[in-house]
Amino acid sequence: MIFNWGYKVKYFFTGILFMCCYIITTAQSNLPIYKNIKINIEDRIKDLLSRMTIQEKILQTSQSYVGNNDNPNNINKEEILSNTNPQIGSLIYYSDDAKMRNAIQTKAMNTRLGIPILFGFDVIHGFKNLYPIPLAVGCSWNVNLYEQACMMAAKETYLAGINWTFSPMLDISRDPRWGRVSECYGEDVYTNAVFGVAAVKGYQGNGLSNPYSIAACLKHFVGYGLSEGGRDYTYTEISNQTLWDTYLIPYQQAINAGAITLMAGFNNLNGIPMIANHFLLTDIVKKRWQLPGFIVSDWNGVHQLIEQGNVLNNKEAALKAFKSGVDLDMTDDVYKDNLLPLLNEDKIRITELDSAVYRILKVKFMLGLFDNPYAPENIIDDSSTQLHDKLISEKLASESMVLLKNKNILPIDFKHIHNIAVIGPMSMDSLDLMGSWIGRGKEIDVTSVYTALKRKLNNVINISFAKGADFDGTDTTGFEDAYKAAMTADLCIICLGEKGIWSGENASRSSIELPYIQEQLIKMVSKAKKPIVLVLFNGRPLALKNIEPYADAILESWQPGTMGAFAVADILSGKSNPSGKLDITFPLTSGQIPIYYSMRPKARPSSGNYQDISTQPLYPFGYGLSYSKFAYDSIKLSSSHIKKEEHLIARINVQNISDKDGLETVLWYITDKTASITRPIKELRFFEKKEIKKNNTKTFIFDIDPLRDLSYPDADGNKILEPGEFIIEANGQKASFDLIE
Ligand code: BGC
Repeated sequence: MIFNWGYKVKYFFTGILFMCCYIITTAQSNLPIYKNIKINIEDRIKDLLSRMTIQEKILQTSQSYVGNNDNPNNINKEEILSNTNPQIGSLIYYSDDAKMRNAIQTKAMNTRLGIPILFGFDVIHGFKNLYPIPLAVGCSWNVNLYEQACMMAAKETYLAGINWTFSPMLDISRDPRWGRVSECYGEDVYTNAVFGVAAVKGYQGNGLSNPYSIAACLKHFVGYGLSEGGRDYTYTEISNQTLWDTYLIPYQQAINAGAITLMAGFNNLNGIPMIANHFLLTDIVKKRWQLPGFIVSDWNGVHQLIEQGNVLNNKEAALKAFKSGVDLDMTDDVYKDNLLPLLNEDKIRITELDSAVYRILKVKFMLGLFDNPYAPENIIDDSSTQLHDKLISEKLASESMVLLKNKNILPIDFKHIHNIAVIGPMSMDSLDLMGSWIGRGKEIDVTSVYTALKRKLNNVINISFAKGADFDGTDTTGFEDAYKAAMTADLCIICLGEKGIWSGENASRSSIELPYIQEQLIKMVSKAKKPIVLVLFNGRPLALKNIEPYADAILESWQPGTMGAFAVADILSGKSNPSGKLDITFPLTSGQIPIYYSMRPKARPSSGNYQDISTQPLYPFGYGLSYSKFAYDSIKLSSSHIKKEEHLIARINVQNISDKDGLETVLWYITDKTASITRPIKELRFFEKKEIKKNNTKTFIFDIDPLRDLSYPDADGNKILEPGEFIIEANGQKASFDLIE
């Protein structure tokens, strides 16, 4: 008999393979349903909920914080690492160390059910590599570039072990005294909605469980941007009509775009604090808009219901907030301490607790945390990725900057300018270029304007420096040096502005003029009779009436982030061509506040003005100059009238009549001439930015869909579309058409 060893070996290995498959399959089918990646998320959550104790469920509704923050309430990281049972639902993670985060996560995964912790952090305009503040980003009108920047921020955040950012902020603000105006995309509804959607897409990518995607959180729902007097945390009074036609719209659109979580704001809205607003949180956000994930309170927000005069104690606060629809309690432990007694007293039903926990677990499942709970460690971006990220932040910074004035002084004419004096408190400053909410951005990575100018222009010109004065105070001893520097220069670049901490949370100012010392500095330097370029760095619009006459050119640079100073240097030298346009009005003085372009028409159009100053702002919404010159043709419409179900095409040709290539944004406004609920003077309904080469023409097109672009909501959020005359406008060109039955 002849043995065929080949067959034997083959059968042997086939047998082993079969056994392995059997073991793996049985192992999978022996897994509890919630751990089985092959089963759909809904069934996995239901299974997990059925295994959880009440205490475990309550812990899921609680968020604490841990990491490098020195706040005394911070859970110390040693403590959490030594804790054998960290079943907390979520942590705000003040670190960028994926290893430490994974060590904490290991503790959670080794608990009875192994429910991963959701790590969150405020990534507002970048994590390490900071791009400009959101208020600046809106002025770029470059939505795709912003989406890429958010994607880059998501990747850096993810690699630090964080899966959830508290961004974007969609609180439209029309009071620049409020410090958090820096965190929104300006005063306009449409702009906030479009950039908010871009942020959500950038953070969440093509799927939450993809590597480098993080969950977005829309905040601070809703109306927080209308804090009375611009003071933070205060009362907000907003009619239902305005709520629906202004403040709610960006949130609704961002949820439609897939935003997964939402934060309830600190504000008391019309007498009902947002944390306790059942109608808006539950009936609107969860039921009508179908938010897929959960609602989190803002920091200590549940407890603050006591301060706001709505409840007596934490137990009542927990009941109110929970019943209103807040699923996750940020940092104040009010749920952790009070939900159990409330359940025992039948004030909260277990089914209600289950639905809050369901939403929280759903986000964790969608992020893939159950199947992939750990963050990759020791991944360092290669130099080409780093370069790519830097280019994105620099390009976004450049496109966000707005040239407000230019008496033929910029770009710098190197044939005639050989000596430049860089003057002012922002010249040598790196920290304040980052603005507020700097994530893990480091001052050391940021180049100052003076250094950037030196690096870029030293071989063509001489650059001297004099600080002149500090940001505020009364010390004028540096004035003399500033004057001397100006005297020996052909051109002065004066860098003024606000410290990073003057805007952002809890950072209101009663007037938005620059501090007196800075105004004095520019006036003093002007005595040298040299051309002055004023470069501004600020987190809110400024009232520049007192100093505008002293500057021959003004560049609004905002808080432009890590690479911002290079963007400034390139614009000043003409290497780049400014293309930003304001997403917020610059009033003449603080007394004009509130002032925004989309006000409703008044009873007597030419009267009712201030007696002491003009009623016009210094720089209106949409304003911004370029080194190119653009000539707008008239608007051509595809028809003079349309029906509700038809589309109307508006076209405009824009010609670059200069010899410099440039970028131009066409902002398309619509005016609804007569409406049962009066409409604003005009409303931005579409915008587009394109490059137009020198001596070339580009056609911009707005495809008007009446239901989307000509309708407005009533005080209950129902869309109204009324026939009548509409005006369409782009850069002052106007055309009218009728909507007919
Ligand atoms: C702010 C939020 C922020 C939260 C967490 C609060 O004080 O209002 O915007 O997301 O803290 O840091």
